[in-house]
Amino acid sequence: MAEVTQTTLDEATSVFSPIRTIKTPPIKIPPDLTLNTRLQMDGLELMRKLFNDTVPVVFFDPQFRGVYDKMKYGNEQTSRNNVRVKLPQMNESLIIDFITEISRILIPSGHLFLWMDKFHLCSSDFNNWSDGTHLSVVDMLTWDKTKFGLGYRTRHQSEFCVILQKEPRRAKGVWTLRNIPDVWQEKIPKKIHPHTKPIDLQSKLIEAVTSEGDLVVDPAAGSFSVLEACRLKSRNFLGCDII
Ligand SMILES: C[S@@+](CC[C@H](N)C(=O)[O-])C[C@H]1O[C@@H](n2cnc3c(N)ncnc32)[C@H](O)[C@@H]1O
Repeated sequence: MAEVTQTTLDEATSVFSPIRTIKTPPIKIPPDLTLNTRLQMDGLELMRKLFNDTVPVVFFDPQFRGVYDKMKYGNEQTSRNNVRVKLPQMNESLIIDFITEISRILIPSGHLFLWMDKFHLCSSDFNNWSDGTHLSVVDMLTWDKTKFGLGYRTRHQSEFCVILQKEPRRAKGVWTLRNIPDVWQEKIPKKIHPHTKPIDLQSKLIEAVTSEGDLVVDPAAGSFSVLEACRLKSRNFLGCDII
């Protein structure tokens, strides 16, 4: 009996424990916002309506295309990507405004899953994007789309999800799933949006850091893949796209 108690205690205090000890507050959103639906509005405006320290997880997949066009980066071909080019774009200062708001609304030790491409990881001021916020990078994973794309040099087949955490940084009692590899293969079955992200991966990430009924926010939701991931895991979704 004493041995079982000790084992349980050890599990709960180990960084590898599957036991979640972080407390998530009850969902608190203003009456003009609706959960679990596709809102059409500006993502910054949506987040400005939310209270400080109330959201356990935010996904953010910025619309980077403007910089691609300017730099004429080798992995793109505008003639094949007309839909993409027409999407409302985000410059670096807008992206920083989004990240600053995300930092404000996240609970302590809450997570931001930030989708990035290799151009922005390697050549932008990405390292400064979270300056002045309470966020820092704690991990990163590569999404292998399993499909050969374009590229003047290497051919494009991956995107990256940078994982940032609001202070205090901790894994124990917060990140409770240990079976997510940092290279994730997932094919998008049907292209409903030029930037659709993998639903199974996102649902795993949601499962890793939240409990059933918790709130997940996506302020630039595109095809609303995060909404689908939330449905799979019985989490509540709040998100929008400007179009
Ligand atoms: C990269 S896509 C997101 C794709 C999404 N993660 C998915 O899985 O489908 C970025 C989206 O941001 C939207 N967007 C651009 N500016 C916005 C803004 N100010 N507020 C909300 N959405 C915005 C674009 O319309 C575009 O659909």
